[in-house]
Order: sequence, then C-alpha cells, then structure tokens
Amino acid sequence: MEQDPTVLLIDEDSATLDSIRRILGNHASRFKLRRIADVPTALARIWGGGIDLVLLNLPTGADPAQTGGRAETPLAALRELREKAPGVPVAVLCDSAGEGLARAAVQQGAAAYLLREALDPELLKVLRSFAGKSSLSATVLGTLKPTGKDGKIIAFMGAKGGVGTTTVALNVAAALAGHRRVILAELHSELGSLPFYFQPHRSMQDIGNLLGTADRLEAIQLRELESCLWPAKNVPGLQVLFGPRGPQDSSSLDPGNAAGILALASKVADYVIVDLPPSLSETNRVVLENSDCLALVVERDPISVLGAKAILKRVDSWKAGKLTIGAVILNRAALVSPMPFAEIDAALNVATLGVIPPASDLCAAAQRAHSPLVSLDPESLVSRALLDLGRDIEALVPPARPLDRTVARPLAHGPVSRPASQKMTPAPVR
Ligand SMILES: Nc1ncnc2c1ncn2[C@@H]1O[C@H](COP(=O)(O)OP(=O)(O)OP(=O)(O)O)[C@@H](O)[C@H]1O
Ligand SMILES: [Mg+2]
Repeated sequence: MEQDPTVLLIDEDSATLDSIRRILGNHASRFKLRRIADVPTALARIWGGGIDLVLLNLPTGADPAQTGGRAETPLAALRELREKAPGVPVAVLCDSAGEGLARAAVQQGAAAYLLREALDPELLKVLRSFAGKSSLSATVLGTLKPTGKDGKIIAFMGAKGGVGTTTVALNVAAALAGHRRVILAELHSELGSLPFYFQPHRSMQDIGNLLGTADRLEAIQLRELESCLWPAKNVPGLQVLFGPRGPQDSSSLDPGNAAGILALASKVADYVIVDLPPSLSETNRVVLENSDCLALVVERDPISVLGAKAILKRVDSWKAGKLTIGAVILNRAALVSPMPFAEIDAALNVATLGVIPPASDLCAAAQRAHSPLVSLDPESLVSRALLDLGRDIEALVPPARPLDRTVARPLAHGPVSRPASQKMTPAPVR
C-alpha cells in the first residue's frame, strides 16, 4: 500500500505548522506533517529515511536587499540541507518582502518557494508536485549519513567532448584497482562508451536498468547496485557501472539518484571513479559537490583551455568545499606548436595532476583488446604517465580505509618515474 508522503517543516515556532494544517483543510490528512526546530535535528530525521519534502521557513524580513545584498546567513540552512541530503527537495517559505531571498534560494538549489501571504492555493500544488517524488529512498538516505570511512569519489570531466576523459578515467581506475577496490561509474544520461570498450555480455545490467529498478521500487538498494557492477575481466579489483546502452534508458538520471548511486558505491569501494560528461548540469553539480577530487581533462589548444576555464569558474560558485581540483593535460597528437604549459597554468590556476603523451596506436590497440592501456602495455610512456597519475591522485586523496595487505597487488612492478619532460611545476592545489 502506498504511504502518505511525509513533509518536514523546519521552523522554531509551531504557528506555521498550524496555519499549514488550516490551509490544507481536508487535504492535510493526505500528508504526514512533521515539525522540527533546527537543521541538525532535521538532518538526523532525514537520514533516518522516509522524508519526501522539506519546508524550510526562512526568517521573516530576511531579504538580501535589506541586508546589504548579503543573502549568505539566511540561506546557510538551505545549503547545509542541499549538501548533506541532496536527494530530498527543499521548498522555502518566506514573506513577500523576502522574495529576493527566495529567488536566491532557488538559484542555490531550493525546489520551490512559497510566500507566506499566499500559501493558499500554492501550498497544495507544491506538496503534490514534490512529495512522493524524492529520488532517494530511506535505504539510500540511510547510507548517505557520513561514516568517515566511505570510499573517495574522484570525478573526471573533459574541458569539452572527445578530449580523452574516458580513456584517462578508465586507466586511472585500472591503476588504482591494482591494490584498491575501485568502481568506475559512467554517470551519463547519454549513451556511454565504456560498454563499447569493455564489451560486457548483453545481459549485463547498466545504469539505465538500475534507475528503472529505482523507479519501480522507489528505492535503490545496495544489492541492486551490486548486481549492475561488472567485474572487469582482466583487471581484478575493478568493477564497472556502465552508462545506458539504449536511448530508452536515458531519461532518469537526476541529481537525487546520481548522489544516491555515489553514496552507495562509496560504501563498497575505496575509490569511485566517475566518468562525467562535459556539462554544467544540475546532476554534474551534485556529483561534484559530493566528490573529493575533480580531474579536469584538457587538451593543449585554446578552445579546450577556455572550456576548462569556464567550467572552473562555475564549479567555484558551487558548494564544492571539499573538492580538490586539478588538470590533466592530454596530448592526443604531437602538435608542432601546442599551447605552452605555462600559458595553460596561468589560464587555469589549478595544479597539473598529470601530463599524458600522445599514443594513438596504443589507444587503438587497447580498444581492440578491450583492455586498459595500463594492463596491456604497462611499460609504455603513456601507461607510465597514467600510472603516475593514479599514484598522485591516491596521494592527494588518500583512501579512508587502510590497505588490506591480503589484496595488495601492484599493477606495475618496480619504480615508475615520470619523464622530466612530462613534468611541470604545479600551481597550488585548490
Ligand atoms: N593519449 C592519447 N593519445 C591519442 N589518442 C588518445 C589518447 N587518449 C585518448 N585518445 C583517443 O581519443 C579519442 C577520444 O577518447 P575518449 O573517448 O577517452 O574521450 P572522451 O573525452 O571521453 O570523449 P566523449 O566526450 O565522447 O565521452 C579515442 O579515440 C581515444 O582512443
Ligand atoms: Mg567519454
């Protein structure tokens, strides 16, 4: 039997809940209305599961126009909710004098705003449209509660399409899988390229199947995620969550379920390597706000660098406080006059995590062998650069759990040093 949606009002005072009940009249019995006085208690309640919508009562008269344009403090509660419970929609309540603040709230991720003076009939519409559609179930929300031992999330995104992001992500995943449990997740709504690369059996489930399951059950369970993880044949320790393979699967990846998948994956892996499309979508925002590191893959040409700059500017405006950002400079071809490293460095002002040399033939051979470059030819220049990149990322974002010596199995034996010509002085990591 379907349960009544549960709506959580965050408000110190009980008067608003009384007026909400009055306005809803007979409809009030179709929702479970709960009030909690502060955000920490509300988060504990949300992590317990079953909350469909949060109503956040903003302080009266808290308009940025009246506070010198500083909408920071009144929206701190919203930001905390978005960060720590990204899958649950939050609608803000304010008075009409605070409408500017409410708009700022929507820009910062609120699902809707309601004016206290005009709650009737908007309230019922908002409750109907959001309650019951929370993309994260109690199961997933339970797992979002940070334990401090979760796997680290490393996102790879290209400055634009086709720069080599998937190649870098899958090889770094394979490098780390030499001694860590790694999930490589193709968090795309579009057709993924990893299924073409690894060629799993057609019966293998992908992210589209996983989300289809979630729609049906209104929940993504850990065992369902695990049933969609493909154990890479030639890389023990690496499991792949494939992007959708058919257009029918493409519709349902959204910020809520993307965050839920990451939260679950980080429970069972030391590293979750995320292959993201080059986009400033809400889904990518939520993924990056939940990630530990963004490796931005950039080619040595002006358009790629400008694209990277635009992405970095936007990411800076997001609530991605714990995110370490660096660039991976990828040379797909040996250009006669590539953009100088110093120019790229000055334009982006982020650390260079790695420099990948051109290796078209080896890339094609690896595709034909359905194998990561670092497994196929670990001694090649390109593999050494990718293995170095994996090591540098591991040093930058150490895993939360200690290394299990019984599974330790380095992928490349002996010391692998980066050729001096490929190294550059990094800008400070930010
Ligand atoms: N170091 C390299 N040298 C030469 N070619 C490379 C190198 N790295 C990747 N490539 C090639 O570049 C092409 C694009 O790579 P890849 O699919 O990894 O890019 P992408 O950024 O993920 O693309 P998309 O935006 O379509 O997802 C592939 O043919 C790949 O083999
Ligand atoms: Mg790709």
